[in-house]
Amino acid sequence: MDHFMYQNGSLYAEDVPVTDIAARVGTPFYLYSTATLLRHYKLFDEALAGMDHLVCYAMKAASNQAILMTLAQAGAGMDVVSMGEYLRARAAGVPGDKIVFSGVGKTAEEIRTALEGGIRQFNLESEPEMVALNAVAKSMGKVAPVTIRVNPDVDAKTHAKIATGKSENKFGIPISRAREVYRQAAEMEAIEVVGIDVHIGSQLTDLAPFELAYTKVAELTAILRADGHDIRRLDLGGGLGIPYERSNSAPPLPLDYGAMIQRTVGHLGCEIEIEPGRLIAGNAGIMVARVIYVKSGEGRDFLIIDGAMNDLIRPAMYDAHHDIIPVIEPTPGTEQHPYDIVGPVCESGDTFAKQRSMVPLFAGDLIAFRSAGAYGAVMASEYNTRPLIPEVLVNGDQFAVIRPRPTFDEMINRDTIPEWL
Ligand code: LLP
Repeated sequence: MDHFMYQNGSLYAEDVPVTDIAARVGTPFYLYSTATLLRHYKLFDEALAGMDHLVCYAMKAASNQAILMTLAQAGAGMDVVSMGEYLRARAAGVPGDKIVFSGVGKTAEEIRTALEGGIRQFNLESEPEMVALNAVAKSMGKVAPVTIRVNPDVDAKTHAKIATGKSENKFGIPISRAREVYRQAAEMEAIEVVGIDVHIGSQLTDLAPFELAYTKVAELTAILRADGHDIRRLDLGGGLGIPYERSNSAPPLPLDYGAMIQRTVGHLGCEIEIEPGRLIAGNAGIMVARVIYVKSGEGRDFLIIDGAMNDLIRPAMYDAHHDIIPVIEPTPGTEQHPYDIVGPVCESGDTFAKQRSMVPLFAGDLIAFRSAGAYGAVMASEYNTRPLIPEVLVNGDQFAVIRPRPTFDEMINRDTIPEWL
C-alpha cells in the first residue's frame, strides 16, 4: 500500500495533487511520500518486535538526506556501502552506532573515516579486507566491531544482476571457510567479532531462499559458538521484493518475513539486524514525466516523454517493469491503446515499456511511473547532458523540493579546461 491515489479525478501524493507539484517544479521529477516511507519502516520494525533488533535502511536505494532523516527520526539505523553514504548518513543526523558498513571493497580511507566518526559494525567481505581493517584500527588505537559476511551458496531466484548469494558471486566468504576465517579474526588484536552477516540478493519474491540462508546461518552460529566465538548479532541483509506489477504479483509481506526470521534464528538470542532498501523506498516514490509528442510509427505508436533512461535506468538495465499511470484519472471504461513509451535519449535502450496498454494520451499529459522510489534517483546520470531531475517530498498537505534541479550553467561549469586549450 502507498499514498499515491486518485482523488477527485487526479493523482494525489498524500494530500497534495501531483499536478500542483508539476506546475511548481516542472517535469520530470521524483516524488516521495513520507507516510509511505514511515509505514514501510514500521512494518519491518513491528515484524521483528519479539526480538532485540535494528532495521538498518539500505540507503543505496534512495539516499536523499530528507529521506534518511524521516526514517532515522522514526528509529531506523542505516546500512552504508561507501564513504559518501557514511558521510551523508552522518550529515542527516544518524549516530555512528546505528550505522553498519557493508560493501566488498572498503578502502583504508573509508575504514578510517568510519572508525573516527563512529560505527556500529563493519560487515567484512574478505580476508584481505579483514587484514586492512585490523591494520587501520590498530594504527588508530581502536578496536573495530565486525561481522563477517558469509556466502551461503543459495539461489535467490532473482535477476542475475542483483543476486549475490551464489558461490560464483563476488560477495562474502564461502560459508564452508567460515570457521577458518573466524579463527583468524579472533586472533587479530584490533578486531572484535560480534556476529555473522548474510545478504543473498535483491527483489526476492519468495521466502524460501531466505529461509534456506538463515537456517545455514543458525547452524553456523552454533558451530562458531562451540569454537568459542561470542556470536551475539546477526545481520540478515535486505532483499525483500515489492509488487512492481500490481495486477499480477504479491510478494511476501514483512510480517511473514519477520515470522520466518523468528522461526529460523529467533531461538539463538542474538540481536537481529536487517537491511531493507527497496521495500521501504520503492513504493514510496514515483517519477512524474510529461508526454512531449505522440508519434505514429509503422504499426505502433510512441509516447515520447521528457523523462529518459538517465533519469530511471531500471527498465534499460534490468528489463524492469514499472506500472505507468496517467496523472489525470481516466474515466472508467475508456478504451486502452498500446504504446511504446520512450525517452528522448539517442539509444533504442531508452525505452520504458513496449506495447503498454494505456488510455489515449496526448502531448502535454502527465504520467507517473510507480515503484520508482528505490534505485531511481540514486542511479540517475547526466547522460546526454540532461540535468539530474529534482526530488520532492510530500508530508500530508505539505511538499518540499529536497534536491533542486541544477541549472545548465551549474552542470556545464563543473568541467575544467586544461591550460593548453
Ligand atoms: N544489503 C546489501 C548488502 C545489499 O547489497 C543490498 C542491495 C541491500 C542490503 C538492499 O537490498 P534491497 O532490500 O533494496 O533489495 N539497482 C538494483 C538493486 C541493487 C541492489 C544492491 N544491493 C535495482 O534497481 O533493482
